[in-house]
Amino acid sequence: MRKPHIAVLGATGVVGREILSILAENNVPYESIKFLASSKSAGKQIEFKGEMHTIIEATPEVFEGVNVVLASAGGSTSLALAKEAVKRGAVYIDNSSAFRMEKDVPLVIAGVNDEDLRKHQGIISNPNCSTSQLMLVLKPLHDYAKIKRLIVSTYQAVSGAGLAAINELTASTEAKLKGETFENKKFVKNIAFNVIPQIDVFCDNGYTKEEMKVVNETKKILHLEEKTPITCTAVRVPVYNSHSEAVTIEFEKEITPEKTRELLENAWGVEVMDDIDNMVFPTPIDAAGKNPVYVGRIRKDLAFDNAISLWCVADNLRIGAALNTVRIAEKVIEMQLF
Ligand SMILES: NC(=O)c1ccc[n+]([C@@H]2O[C@H](COP(=O)([O-])OP(=O)(O)OC[C@H]3O[C@@H](n4cnc5c(N)ncnc54)[C@H](OP(=O)(O)O)[C@@H]3O)[C@@H](O)[C@H]2O)c1
Repeated sequence: MRKPHIAVLGATGVVGREILSILAENNVPYESIKFLASSKSAGKQIEFKGEMHTIIEATPEVFEGVNVVLASAGGSTSLALAKEAVKRGAVYIDNSSAFRMEKDVPLVIAGVNDEDLRKHQGIISNPNCSTSQLMLVLKPLHDYAKIKRLIVSTYQAVSGAGLAAINELTASTEAKLKGETFENKKFVKNIAFNVIPQIDVFCDNGYTKEEMKVVNETKKILHLEEKTPITCTAVRVPVYNSHSEAVTIEFEKEITPEKTRELLENAWGVEVMDDIDNMVFPTPIDAAGKNPVYVGRIRKDLAFDNAISLWCVADNLRIGAALNTVRIAEKVIEMQLF
């Protein structure tokens, strides 16, 4: 099996560092590896597998000879560099939203729609973090009973908005506890002891872009009909890490809570934590630093005839970003698609 020359773009960021730790943890095979970031970090050292490496500024030329790029450097960087990398023969796995809805770009959750990888033309997109965890839960249920309607409410951790947002939660909480005033920078409202029903910009239809990502990306990944009704409300909560989602799914075919539990217990990448008699259900703290999507509170929904409601929680930096990026890279290597 051929091994690729790898580049990690955005290696100094929150997601990039997580990518490096998972590449090491999973022992991903490679011939060589480069660590790329902005000019600000060029020349600095970064640790990987117990050794120090020099960070290189990401310019088009550095992709010469690179086969697989794992990119988490934001949309504008990807718009500037993805095509340059592809032009030089690389497969560019992107964490930003820049290319997700483009027709020729597979949007992939490893273990859900791996076959879509075969259609890649150089760029492969990693879905939004809220969509990602949901796909591993919905796929086995959709295969069994076919999704008819989907209602999602998210409770999203601040780490999804990067390092500055993590620091703002700490600083604003400390200020609040001391009775001091705090000036928000990263969030439009104070995040300490509060919840904010706005993530990303508002669209013309009154939904936020984050909510529309869940709607559109879910249809693309699960190959649902465009007319499938999906709605989402995305909310930022004062939690450091792990997104939670309250999900109601109406199905075409009858499905019981017991069958749902059985399907999810056997699903790849999912762990059921559902025993209400003993107060067992997942919370963000249970999921932080772990790989599975945890599911609990599985019950027959009361508002629709043939529907299930459930609660799912996952580490947004792992399954919602770095872990799936690495898993896609592993599939690309395994399927020799570079
Ligand atoms: N956080 C999440 O949960 C999450 C989930 C899914 C997707 N994402 C996406 O992943 C990306 C990174 O997010 P993050 O939270 O890791 O952000 P972050 O902590 O701010 O890191 C950004 C990274 O991009 C690099 N970078 C910035 N401008 C660059 C340029 N012009 N050329 C090369 N490198 C550049 C930075 O390098 P320097 O250190 O040199 O500035 C840094 O390594 C974003 O597209 C984000 O939307 C994040």
